[in-house]
Amino acid sequence: MLHSDFAALFGHAPEIISEAPGRVNLIGEHVDYCDGFVMPFAINDRTYAAISKRSDRNIRIASAQRPGEIFETSLDQLSANQEGDWERYILGVIWAFEKHINTGLNILVDGGVALGAGLSSSAALECSIAVALNQLSEVHLPLPQLARLAQRAENEYVGVPCGIMDQSVSLMAQAGSALLLDCRDLSTVQIPLDLASAGLELLIIDTRAHHALVDGGYAERRASCESAAKKLGIKALRDCSITELEAARIKLTELEYMRAEHVVNDIERVHSCVSHLKENDFISVGKILTQSHASLRDRFEISCPELDLAVDTSLANKSLGGRMIGGGFGGSAIALFEVADIEPAKLAIAAAFKAAGYVEPRFFTSLPSSGAAVIA
Ligand code: GLA
Repeated sequence: MLHSDFAALFGHAPEIISEAPGRVNLIGEHVDYCDGFVMPFAINDRTYAAISKRSDRNIRIASAQRPGEIFETSLDQLSANQEGDWERYILGVIWAFEKHINTGLNILVDGGVALGAGLSSSAALECSIAVALNQLSEVHLPLPQLARLAQRAENEYVGVPCGIMDQSVSLMAQAGSALLLDCRDLSTVQIPLDLASAGLELLIIDTRAHHALVDGGYAERRASCESAAKKLGIKALRDCSITELEAARIKLTELEYMRAEHVVNDIERVHSCVSHLKENDFISVGKILTQSHASLRDRFEISCPELDLAVDTSLANKSLGGRMIGGGFGGSAIALFEVADIEPAKLAIAAAFKAAGYVEPRFFTSLPSSGAAVIA
């Protein structure tokens, strides 16, 4: 489909077709920009990109989700934060490749990751382009460097101060595993996540809530963590144990302490979660998810009533544990269930949302899927 749509639109076949997935973060939230450890996995849903080089320096971008529209610019007009709307995620990646891209491009994307659900549709878009251009330009950057390039596109071109987690998992995930990522050096360990053999499934609940705090709130949390690290005399909060943090409490404002406490504890929860997964101890994994949610809600203060209701209703309906995921103030929550308990829980969550007057939530499930790839 993408191949023939591209040909119909641009009058020739694409040179390359790539795909990149969205993600769910199992554990380790708001710790990537503190050089911490995170453990996301790639979901099945992915974004596809078909690309060919042009003989001039023009860039033409189209999306299967917006038939009839073509965005046009030129390589010579790319400069940070200037042009486009959603196209900026693509332009940012082209921009970040710098001198390695020196011809114009025709691009058609087909986005299959739900927008605004906190499942990293933006990283999927960036990484679908990054992995294609990496091959097309023959730069062949290693994946960690490609993740940094895509993050730079989002930070500096689009202007979103995100960490490195979403791009890393979209590029480096493997099917069947969660990705244990050290956000300092981007080293990874694939941690097998076979919920099905244990009779379990992870329910993804898209609350469809978006609270206005989302932009400023993220940057503000990040700033608090950075100022706390500075006052503690360390490079990042990753370099601090909970005992050291408690001992140095006097150096921090109460707010910085609360934020730092979440980060330090959530990094520890990532390590515990890895141990429990290795032992197939899903009861303990569930408890850790729920502890993380409480910390994100009460210490990091980035939950919202819809996310809390999704988690609380899951817990009241036999979930082993659950939590909000991603940046916060809306988006999705995850909850771990025995397979037989999923359908009744979905009904209960939908009913609770209705009773509270919230928009009807959307439900997904996904096995841990593979990372970005060139597919044609
Ligand atoms: C967003 C950012 C990530 C990460 C999460 C919170 O998804 O893009 O870098 O900081 O929030 O863990």
